[in-house]
Amino acid sequence: MGIHQENYNSGILVEMWADFINWEKRRKGENGFLLNTLNKSHCRNVFDACLGDGADSIYLLKNGFDVTSNDLDNLFIKKARENAIKYNVTLNITEHDWRYLDRHFEGKNFDAVLCLGNSLTYLFEKKGRLKTLRNFLYILKDKGILVIDERNYQSILDKREEILKEGKFQYSGEYVYCGDKVHGRPIEISDDKVRFEYKDERTGSKGYLLLYPFKRGELLDLLKEAGFAKIEPYSDYKKGFTPDADFYQYVCIK
Ligand SMILES: C[S@@+](CC[C@H](N)C(=O)[O-])C[C@H]1O[C@@H](n2cnc3c(N)ncnc32)[C@H](O)[C@@H]1O
Repeated sequence: MGIHQENYNSGILVEMWADFINWEKRRKGENGFLLNTLNKSHCRNVFDACLGDGADSIYLLKNGFDVTSNDLDNLFIKKARENAIKYNVTLNITEHDWRYLDRHFEGKNFDAVLCLGNSLTYLFEKKGRLKTLRNFLYILKDKGILVIDERNYQSILDKREEILKEGKFQYSGEYVYCGDKVHGRPIEISDDKVRFEYKDERTGSKGYLLLYPFKRGELLDLLKEAGFAKIEPYSDYKKGFTPDADFYQYVCIK
């Protein structure tokens, strides 16, 4: 169940990531969704499963949450530590592969688990994705919540011809990844993998990720199969489903 070789984060990508996200615009785009969701379920104790450069963990620490931040990429962890110093907070970091979290926790540890930034699509095998979701369920306290998101890959799959041949990738840039200096776009699209290119428009430097494209309804079905009791879907942070959203979020109750 190894992570796909080609989707390891390169140093270039890590350096670009803050400009790809645009930390401020991410907060503007989600318009309080994360804090409201956590507060509504009385969550204090949060496991950020994929720390990345620290954008969400640092925001939650600044807002008084008790956060455990996890990642297994050394370069991202180093970058997040640098950012934490900049923002004057201390990260509590674990370095576990999601698929083996059950080996490191006794269960029922957290009020909330976050798997944000389109991260589950790093895993190419259904077995690994399902094991990951079951592990998230395992480390959640009773009635705890998983907040997870996915890119609208179905739209990319449906429009693959115009994206690849005509270079027309329609993405609002208002949600999740909002940077205007670093842009991501798919450069290879097939039913089982999508390669994204991330380009810094100022310098021309490029990074790449190979990701698994969820089909419409696939993540929702997987969340049900993993055993979540209730799942609320959102489209670009608004309740319900719209087919042309950029990203989908799911609040899943144990
Ligand atoms: C697309 S980035 C998103 C980071 C951050 N949450 C954000 O929104 O910017 C996905 C992160 O998940 C981490 N990751 C991927 N597979 C993982 C696994 N099996 N276990 C733990 N972390 C993993 C990667 O190292 C990377 O930092």
